Amino acid sequence: MPSLNTIAKQHRKLYFGSATNNVEFVNDTAYRDILQNNRMFGQITAANSMKWGSTEPFPGVFTFDDADQVVQFAKTNGQILRGHNCVWHNHLPDWVLNGTFTESEILSVVQRHCGTLVGRYRGQIYSWDVVNEVINDDGTFRETLFFNSSGTKYIATAFHTARAADPFAKLYANDFNIEGPGPKSTAYRNLIKDLKKEGVPIQGLGIQSHLVVGELPVNIKENLEAFTKLGIEVAITELDIRMTLPETPSLLAQQKKDYETIISACNEVKGCIGVTVWDFTDKYSWIPRSFAGEGNACPWDDNLQIKPAYFGIIDGFRK
Ligand code: G3I
Repeated sequence: MPSLNTIAKQHRKLYFGSATNNVEFVNDTAYRDILQNNRMFGQITAANSMKWGSTEPFPGVFTFDDADQVVQFAKTNGQILRGHNCVWHNHLPDWVLNGTFTESEILSVVQRHCGTLVGRYRGQIYSWDVVNEVINDDGTFRETLFFNSSGTKYIATAFHTARAADPFAKLYANDFNIEGPGPKSTAYRNLIKDLKKEGVPIQGLGIQSHLVVGELPVNIKENLEAFTKLGIEVAITELDIRMTLPETPSLLAQQKKDYETIISACNEVKGCIGVTVWDFTDKYSWIPRSFAGEGNACPWDDNLQIKPAYFGIIDGFRK
């Protein structure tokens, strides 16, 4: 049975990776055995440990224990890292969430956070999600506290700060519902063009890919290509494909096809550099907590056994 990172690399991708949480790889040895195998996973994303609420709980007070542990895990196992993330409207500490900030205050808060976080891992991270989920599904900017205080200025500030803190990392924006064409994908193309025109160092777009069995968008390949034509790379950054429970053989078969579809789209686009699943096992998937009655979105089941989806991934690379 081919391993996923091995087959991704055979097809000239940089990695096949997974997101993870500290409690999972620290406490669950069977889980750790799979995650630490770099023929299976050549890249790691901290699902939560690098987020603002985890790393700057009080103004200017940084806690990097969990983030360091993820970085150390990946280094020990010869895996590359994606940094996730500098600025997101979710998982914020109370002092940001409940604070009131003028434009210059919010920009300096963003600068201190991104500069310190990205700087800590200078030279050790392949790519950073500098901004996460800044656009709504209808293509308008999301009215986060960052936007409400600074318009779109916080975006440029975050990228310039990240670039100064780590000249080696590829700097990304990252979002969901941009797998296929539509107003949100168009808005991202416009944002990327505008940022580049202004000299903002954006180099990649993360296509999260939280998908639904049987409901994949059409023309994923063409959509990814349109992003790469702007002179950036793309990556599938948070892949999972959920189903309405209970699981049936036909849902599992459709899920396998859907994994094949998204992987083959990335595989066929030269500038799509890698794929990350948003944890590899249903045991630790975020889906059941967020979508009542849905789940089983990952390529490994609750008992850490591979599912048909695993072979869909392999078929996607071989297609
Ligand atoms: O670790 C604490 C635990 O100590 C506490 O008892 C428990 C009680 O709620 O919470 C635990 O923290 C939770 C954490 O997940 C770890 O499981 C947080 O409450 C919960 O909000 C957090 O959810 C994460 C969510 O982002 C918000 O940060 C999910 O795990 C994570 O999968 C999800 O990931 C996001 C990406 O970052 C961005 N794209 C969408 C994706 C899915 O929402």
